[in-house]
Parts: sequence; C-alpha cells; structure tokens
Amino acid sequence: MLLTLRVSAIGAPTALIKSFTLEAADGARLPGYEPGAHLQVEIPSSAGGVPQWRSYSLINLDPSVDPRAGVGAYRLGVRREDEGRGGSRHMHALEVGDTLNVRAPASHFPLAGPPRVLLIAGGIGVTPIASMAAELAAQQRDFELHFSGRTRDALPFVEELRALAGERLMLHTDDDPATRLEIDALLDHAQVNQPIYVCGPAGMIDAVLASARKRGWHECDLHYELFAEAAPQEGDTAFEVELKSSGKRLTVPAGKSLLDTLLENGTDVMYDCRAGYCGLCSTRVCSGEIDHRDTYLSDADKTGGKVMQVCVSRSKRGHLVLDL
Ligand code: FES
Repeated sequence: MLLTLRVSAIGAPTALIKSFTLEAADGARLPGYEPGAHLQVEIPSSAGGVPQWRSYSLINLDPSVDPRAGVGAYRLGVRREDEGRGGSRHMHALEVGDTLNVRAPASHFPLAGPPRVLLIAGGIGVTPIASMAAELAAQQRDFELHFSGRTRDALPFVEELRALAGERLMLHTDDDPATRLEIDALLDHAQVNQPIYVCGPAGMIDAVLASARKRGWHECDLHYELFAEAAPQEGDTAFEVELKSSGKRLTVPAGKSLLDTLLENGTDVMYDCRAGYCGLCSTRVCSGEIDHRDTYLSDADKTGGKVMQVCVSRSKRGHLVLDL
C-alpha cells in the first residue's frame, strides 16, 4: 500500500540524527505496525531516473500506545550519512510541510519469545529497539536495554528511553572506559538462550552473535537487524549480467551493487533491506558462479546456485545470466 504523508514535525536529537513525524494530509489514522517494523520511503532520483526506496525503522517511545492498533503519526529517526547514496541527505533536507511517499509498514525483526529479553542497540540502530522496549514495558515484561555509541552526545532519544525503561536502560560510550560496551562480559552475566535483539553497525552485530554462539546460544534466540546497507568489499571487480528475457547485457561496476545496476537500467526488482537478510530481492539465476553474501538463503540454496540476493551478492567469476 502506497501512502503520501506530510512531514508534521522535525527534531534533532543529536548533531547527526533528525527525527521526522509523518501524518496523513487529511489527519486519517495510519496503518498499525509491529514493534521493530520499518517504513520504506521513496527517495526521488536527482538525475530524473528511477526513484529509490530506503527503509527506516519506526520509533515508538510511549508504552501507552499500541502501534499495532493504528497510529495518528509515524516517527522515524535518520542519521545523516554524507558518504551514503543520498537517502539520508534527502531526508535531512526535508522541511515541515513537505510530503513523502511511503510503503505501509513491514517487519523482518519481530519481537517474540519468553519474558526476559536482552536488547542491544548501537547509535541510530536504537530506532527499532526503542519500539521493542516500549512494547516490553507496556507488557510489563522483564528486559534490559544496552545502548552504545561513540560519545554520550551521539546517543539519540535517551531521555525518552530513560522514561520508559528506567534503570533497565544502560548507556555505554566508547570514550569512557568505565561504561564502554564489553560484549563478552555482558553475555557472561546473561542467561544462555535468553532472547537477544541487536541492531546497529555490522561490527557490533557480528561481535554479539559470535560471543553468544561461543557461549551456546541457539540461533533461534538471536535476532538482529543490520543498520547499514552492505558495503562493497575490498577486491570487488566489475562483472557482467545478462537478462534472459531480453538478452540485454549490463555491467555491474566494482563499487555498485547488482540491485542498483538493475534498477538504474529500468529493471523492476522487489527489494527492502538492501543488506541480504529480508529475502525480497531473491532472483533466479540461469547460469554463472554466484558469490553469495547474504544471510537469507540456506546453505542448500547457496550450494544449489540457482538463486541469489541481488542486493549484496555478486559474480565469482565470469558473467551471470539472470531469469529476469
Ligand atoms: S533486499 Fe533484502 S535480501 Fe536483498
């Protein structure tokens, strides 16, 4: 479902992060969402090309509001990434009264599990985690929220989080050895297989998952959402893809994803996370050797070599023929 929403308020919880309140132009209630859900926002192309979509998590910091029942407004938090591909720059240039096209909320990061929950957030990755904390507080479930950033000034929404989580909110900053997040020590004191929800930079998520796995956590108790699109890897080279239906050949440059190359050339591909975990961009492959970089496909799918996630995966060598 496509919605056109008006920006009704803009805040600046840190120097790099802005929050946006979005409402229907006619004041109608908006579709509900699960804690941890996100909105896809349309980012117009500056060169008149195909618009792009970016996913931003929905924030609810009020435990008295059940966002599943529909809401009067959506709230997003967006960190400005000057080296990014333009989505956050577009968002940061918005003014109150501007309109945005969005797709109705969706979630790949649902909150479930038994009562005691460990929430871990890094920087702007707190946005889905904050909504989970509000939900857990509303349900009077037991949780801890560990929120980490480089400095105290870089942590958004702290006052609101303190109001809903109280002493269950633990702040960690890299510039203070007394509070720096020590993941191994944190998990040493947690209960093995206590559900963990973590959202933030890739390095932080990797460290939490590795530490938990080493301590015997089951995969089904580890929930994460990468708060960044997958970055190009060192040594990436250009490769060619062929679209089976038209025979069209496209070159995917070293620093660009296959997904972006397809979109820029007018090929309609569904996508969402752009980080290889939501599954939406699965594309059948007729021939070629795939360099799988996603966390969505099973090992069997990867070995089978018939499908790939075009947002992150590339060609190992030679060209790929896609069933598009
Ligand atoms: S867009 Fe989510 S896996 Fe590719």
